[in-house]
Amino acid sequence: MSSPHTLSFIEATEARRSVRSLIPKSTVPDKEIVELVRQALLVTPTAFSSQTVRATLLLHDDHAKLWTITGDALKAKIGQERYDATTKSKIEAFGQGYGTILFWDSGDAVENFRENCPKSYKDKVDEWVHHGMGICQYHLWVGLVAFGLGVNLQHYNPLIDEGVRKEWNLPADWRLRAQMVFGVAAPDVKPGPRGQKYPIEERFQAFGAQ
Ligand SMILES: Cc1cc2nc3c(=O)[nH]c(=O)nc-3n(C[C@H](O)[C@H](O)[C@H](O)COP(=O)(O)O)c2cc1C
Repeated sequence: MSSPHTLSFIEATEARRSVRSLIPKSTVPDKEIVELVRQALLVTPTAFSSQTVRATLLLHDDHAKLWTITGDALKAKIGQERYDATTKSKIEAFGQGYGTILFWDSGDAVENFRENCPKSYKDKVDEWVHHGMGICQYHLWVGLVAFGLGVNLQHYNPLIDEGVRKEWNLPADWRLRAQMVFGVAAPDVKPGPRGQKYPIEERFQAFGAQ
């Protein structure tokens, strides 16, 4: 990636937070975001290289459309009154971002993996499909942060799966797993300190370090 202001990997992992208040601007041209997402699918690992992850990048009007679809689906589910009181401002804030990456599992690819993987690993397939998905999501979260963008991760699936597949004419076997929203962080927003629910000493041990 060629942007002059791109953070190093370590810097970006340290800067990565959930930024839920965004403005519809980008720090890099669209083609760099397209390439980042495309590259993530090519380079991130999956078990036995099963390549079960799919991604759809939505920018500009397509990004706005996603959050209209999501808002409409939520209104239909919980009713206008409850939607207005509890959810509307959140959905509108996501719509205020610059873009969304949709992450999908291909059901056909997962079954292909299950059929063809060695027998002794078959009970691991679903777990490993999730791992591959998480790795790809994290790659893109950090990658977008490296571009200087704010990012958050949402889960309105499976409520919106059908509407989204229909709108963008996506394959019927794709199952939506997450929506990654990004844009320039709103100027007034500063994420709080990172909380530690469990002392790091309980969570990590190192042996043999010299
Ligand atoms: C698997 C996963 C699911 C998450 N789901 C959501 C979500 O649905 N909505 C949301 O606003 N944040 C979601 N988050 C963000 C976490 O709440 C957040 O990463 C965590 O509180 C740590 O905060 P930080 O991202 O600012 O470091 C999710 C994060 C992960 C890893």
